[in-house]
Amino acid sequence: MAPKDKMGRRLHDLRISVTDRCNFRCPYCMPKELFGPAFEFIQRQQLLTYEEIARLARIFVGLGVEKVRLTGGEPLLRRDLSDLIRLLAKLPGVRDLTLTTNGLLLPKFATHLAAAGLHRVTVSLDSLDDGVFRRMNDVGVGVEEILTGIDAALAAGLTPLKVNAVVQRGVNDHTLVDLARHFHGSGVIVRFIEFMDVGTTNGWRLDDVVPASEIVECIDRALPLEPLRANYPGEVARRWRYRDGGGEIGVISSVTQPFCGGCTRARLSPEGKLFTCLFASAGHDLRAPLRAGDSDEELRQQLTRLWGTRDDRYSELRSAQTTRQPRIEMSYIGG
Ligand code: GTP
Ligand code: 5AD
Ligand code: SF4
Ligand code: SF4
Repeated sequence: MAPKDKMGRRLHDLRISVTDRCNFRCPYCMPKELFGPAFEFIQRQQLLTYEEIARLARIFVGLGVEKVRLTGGEPLLRRDLSDLIRLLAKLPGVRDLTLTTNGLLLPKFATHLAAAGLHRVTVSLDSLDDGVFRRMNDVGVGVEEILTGIDAALAAGLTPLKVNAVVQRGVNDHTLVDLARHFHGSGVIVRFIEFMDVGTTNGWRLDDVVPASEIVECIDRALPLEPLRANYPGEVARRWRYRDGGGEIGVISSVTQPFCGGCTRARLSPEGKLFTCLFASAGHDLRAPLRAGDSDEELRQQLTRLWGTRDDRYSELRSAQTTRQPRIEMSYIGG
């Protein structure tokens, strides 16, 4: 039976972070000063194995999960990721199997990922202005390299492909229309994301957030838009369509228009902790019971209990008080 949480929300999506490492140092996620050579990433033995992840995923599917997303850090840094995809693609009931990546390694892996059974990918690309993008990844990667990755994914059939752009005032907000224009008519769906106060290291300030309403007005002035209905209840992005038939965009407004009411997402960390909210301070360890030999039925009961006691709605409650609480980092839990 699919469990409901304390607010009547079902479990529908599982976001699996496979590594806390990344080859980028986006200042809004992994600022170099804090994620430098001395930073202690999770050790290999601490990571869930692919077999352990797949076993948990199968139990989650039994509880109603239909959508599985791999995240990181940068998921393509985890060795032989296609092996995990092959295991997940075999699970009956997974209708959407996808991955969020910075795109740098897609030229190398796109065909393997598709052959292993991945359905689609979402690529983070914050700007098409090379100077702006280099500042936003902070490791000297240029726009062309990511566009090559996107082309590799399209060629491999990993579609519908989405592009995620985190919008920060004064950083890339003057380059949004160019991004929209570039992908207009291509079938690629660009999603503009309000900068969120995830973690405690990215120096988030409300002044840095460009509200979704302002983003939509800005695009609409250049490329007229009209609203579209959500694909399913609780969809993260609000959808808009170009009036000229050039496709759609999405806007993700966790700060100005929270969507906790329809939040059906569970998150699994690289070492097997379950988080029932992106902004949670602590997770529930599943690795210990897994390695202690708990049966599938025992694990299922634990997951049912954890989901059943969930009452998270951080974005709706966001206030001076909640933003001071400790929170896990984006690079650890993957959004
Ligand atoms: P689709 O299935 O393609 O619609 O993907 P998605 O938008 O659910 O996932 P993606 O990994 O592309 O995330 C896009 C942005 O939404 C990221 O900034 C995530 O951190 C954010 N996001 C995803 N789920 C949630 C959520 O439950 N709460 C909040 N606050 N943000 C979320
Ligand atoms: N606010 C909003 N989105 C963020 N992402 C990373 N950090 C933040 C933040 N502070 C985005 C990434 C990626 C997705 C999983 O989350 O760019 O596209
Ligand atoms: Fe940037 Fe994504 Fe890496 Fe964070 S995980 S540093 S947002 S590429
Ligand atoms: Fe879900 Fe937490 Fe995001 Fe609200 S803030 S939508 S409860 S993950």
